[in-house]
Amino acid sequence: MKKTEIWYLLISLTTVIGFAVLIYYSILRVNPSVVPPEAAAGKELWERQGCMQCHAIMGSGGYSASDLTDVVTRRGEGWLEEFFLEPPLMEPSHRRHPGLAGAEIVHMLTFLRLVDEIDNLDWPPAPLITVPEDLETKD
Ligand code: HEC
Repeated sequence: MKKTEIWYLLISLTTVIGFAVLIYYSILRVNPSVVPPEAAAGKELWERQGCMQCHAIMGSGGYSASDLTDVVTRRGEGWLEEFFLEPPLMEPSHRRHPGLAGAEIVHMLTFLRLVDEIDNLDWPPAPLITVPEDLETKD
């Protein structure tokens, strides 16, 4: 084999291997992970209970209560479970916040955890509303 032929062979091999690696990684990126059934049930609950009338996710939804995109990180699952089991009175209306029970809590937490884990580049960029201290939860 001539020296130039060896060079051609090497360049071709490198190109083929390079493309194979690129294609492999691009397939990995588009491979959709399966949404757990609990999370799907939680999303259905979210829609059925009308949580979106007051809350937003990633800035989309109601603005009269907090954006819940990262609420699992902010509050923790234990806190959220308590919150749904014994929902507080909302200020200033004094209506009780919608509560959840049993499997509903597991479903809602799985849905909210999934939303929290989405790589959304910290969208929305800043809290859209903040609850003033004197309007905090009253039991
Ligand atoms: C009528 C409006 C309204 C609806 C409907 C509503 N919420 Fe809320 N939610 C509020 C308000 C107001 C607060 C703040 C309560 C407080 O701390 O006094 C709140 C607080 C929360 C919090 C704590 C948020 C935080 O930032 O700490 C969570 C979690 C939550 N709601 C989830 C839900 C879910 C899930 C649903 C649907 C099942 C729902 N909410 C439906 C008005 C609503």
